[in-house]
Amino acid sequence: MKRELTRRDFIALSAATATSAMLPKFAMAETETVKYDYESLPPLRETAAKKGILYGSSVEPARLEITKAFSPYYEQDFNDAIARECNLLVAESIMKWDALHPTPEKWDFWLADQLLEYAKKYDMKMRGHTLIWHAAFPAWAEQALKEGRGEALMEEYIAKVAGHYKGKLVSWDVVNEALKGRGEGNEEGLRDTPWLKALGPSYIEKAFRLAAQADPDVQLVYNDYDIEQRPAKSASAIKLLRGLKDKNVPIHALGLQAHIDLETNFAPLKALCEEAKKLGLDIIITELDVFDPSFNTDSKKTDELVAAKLREFLDIVFTVAVPKQILAWGLTDRHSWLSSAQWNVWRNPKGHHIRGLPLDDDLKRKPMWHVLHEFLEKA
Ligand code: G3I
Repeated sequence: MKRELTRRDFIALSAATATSAMLPKFAMAETETVKYDYESLPPLRETAAKKGILYGSSVEPARLEITKAFSPYYEQDFNDAIARECNLLVAESIMKWDALHPTPEKWDFWLADQLLEYAKKYDMKMRGHTLIWHAAFPAWAEQALKEGRGEALMEEYIAKVAGHYKGKLVSWDVVNEALKGRGEGNEEGLRDTPWLKALGPSYIEKAFRLAAQADPDVQLVYNDYDIEQRPAKSASAIKLLRGLKDKNVPIHALGLQAHIDLETNFAPLKALCEEAKKLGLDIIITELDVFDPSFNTDSKKTDELVAAKLREFLDIVFTVAVPKQILAWGLTDRHSWLSSAQWNVWRNPKGHHIRGLPLDDDLKRKPMWHVLHEFLEKA
């Protein structure tokens, strides 16, 4: 597919990006249009694999062939696009506590195991997401924490889940989002979660040690959002990581979720990446998407701005270290958390359709795809 960008778009894009050095490598044709030649380029997974990088997406199994026989949400074209572009998958919801251990008596690995088989079939790797998190956490488990049974519960859960997937995953988000979110006081320090209340700050290191015991070879990750942009949160992340390393806690990587938007200021990002690198941690990108808070209705323009914002982000991260795993939180705008009811409540009240992922609704590659291709190619 050739997609044309007019001279006016090009100028608008130039103004939106800070310097000409940050502009995408488009070819300016004599007709004064810029041409992308997307479809002739190899899938992201191929470009990534050449550089020893895994590229991927979060997925809901209900849309994949593993549930074809019974799922009303199955989509052949989506299934094929995932298989074509990705060599890394992460479950969007089905490897969280409420899915794997919904009641005290019930453990359910069936769907997650099916997803692992799917990944194997298409020669993809899988990440685990996530062991300890305050969300997707059932009421019965929270009650157990309140009753002082937190340590035993964590021990049992991590041993069972990380043990079940021992040797089968490339990495685990051991602790997810333990730092304060937006609007939680001064945004410094640990989030007030049921785990913090029950076990104190040491719940984090405990989780890492248990994960290492259960699966000694998997990469163990601390994963969070906004750390690439909110100064207080970024500083808290550095403090947390330093503290864990000082105590010889088995932690191997920092996961930048990278739910960014067109207004994101990446001021603290470089220092965070440098510090993580200094501590001997890998930096990986785990949940990338790019939100447009202005809800621009000119989709062509939005796509260019999204691509430019992604370029700004990747430029900083890649300058410090090339991430060996890069995942977007979805592959196509057709299924994006940014257009979901949950996100709508918070930042998209009118339910606009958001174009924050690499492929459009028709699974066509967008400028964002092109930026990913370019960074993988030059990695
Ligand atoms: O599977 C049930 C289904 O059986 C039920 O009928 C339906 C009714 O609500 O709910 C379904 O579960 C939903 C699940 O997504 C699967 O669609 C949950 O209610 C819903 O809460 C869940 O939301 C996910 C959320 O995490 C909480 O687990 C989102 O899809 C997912 O995008 C979001 O992902 C998080 C990352 O894990 C961490 N970082 C931020 C990111 C975005 O919020």
